[in-house]
Amino acid sequence: MKNKTVAIVGATGAVGREFVGCIESRGVPLASLKLLASARSAGKTQMFRGKELVIEELTDRAFDGVDIALFSAGSGISKQYAPAAVKAGAVVVDNSSAFRSDPAIPLVIPEINARRIADHKGIIANPNCSAITTLVPLWPVHQVNPVKRLIVSTYQAASGGGAALMEELELSTRAYLDGKEYPPKVVKYPYAFNVFSHNTAIDMATGYNDEETKVIKESKKIFEDDKIAISATCIRVPVLRAHSVSMTFECERPITPEEVKALLAKAPGVKLVDDWANNYFPMPKDASGQGDVLAGRIRKDLSDPSGKSISMFVAADQLLKGAALNAVQIAELL
Ligand code: A2P
Repeated sequence: MKNKTVAIVGATGAVGREFVGCIESRGVPLASLKLLASARSAGKTQMFRGKELVIEELTDRAFDGVDIALFSAGSGISKQYAPAAVKAGAVVVDNSSAFRSDPAIPLVIPEINARRIADHKGIIANPNCSAITTLVPLWPVHQVNPVKRLIVSTYQAASGGGAALMEELELSTRAYLDGKEYPPKVVKYPYAFNVFSHNTAIDMATGYNDEETKVIKESKKIFEDDKIAISATCIRVPVLRAHSVSMTFECERPITPEEVKALLAKAPGVKLVDDWANNYFPMPKDASGQGDVLAGRIRKDLSDPSGKSISMFVAADQLLKGAALNAVQIAELL
């Protein structure tokens, strides 16, 4: 990428800042980096490789000379500005849900379907963070013994709701400990010392919220398998930046926990954390700030006497593998 100019749309946001961090920490060799955000942030500065970069206002003209544009400013902004970026000659890697379900737009997790990057016509979609966390460790199993049915429950961090929700978790926790009232602003219900159903709209026909529907639909698209039966329950927990997922999956043929562990021990993007003696398994605390999906608690699903089902627990940094890192990996492959 050393001749490329990269733009970051939403550079001041929770994911935007991690885009910059990933480019820096991976030593991605760029020609230049352009930071774009709203008019509120224009003129402010952000550090990149020891230099202060001035944040520019996002406009249609901001993409002149840009080769790759990493978007994370919400799906409205993506729908409005991604076409302008493509028109200016940039390839867009979009972290929002704006284009994910479009059959003509690749939805990519590099460890699974990097080959789909070549199909792009200007836009590549970065999947939902819970879908990435679930699918990276499921793919190695699916390849050798196809998954027929999958049930997931998520434990989702504040970072998925952006910088404002992370701040709400911190401020409401402090207020709680100080015995003060904290009226929720970003989400509907008190966040400190509480869990609640994911703060996306419920589909009145199915009873599934938008996040759950994304996990179901995106998993089928990425695995290129419409027949996998999937159910999801997505829950917000008072954790700052790493999502955890409890999953049970049924394969085509019998499978043992030992086989799954052997597959995951050599799977790219996965780290086994499965220490039964010490009750040490994936935790958001350990997943935060690193790029792997941690996988453990790998055991037989005792409710399935056929021996085809496994339960496991995984955790990954929502801002890194769940968002910025996955997008930067896509940009590197471009
Ligand atoms: P700004 O900080 O200027 O509002 P998060 O996901 O953490 O909530 O961050 C959202 C990102 O999207 C921020 O960088 C924010 O910039 C950016 N953003 C929000 N609205 C706009 C807009 N109308 N034009 C450009 N960027 C926007």
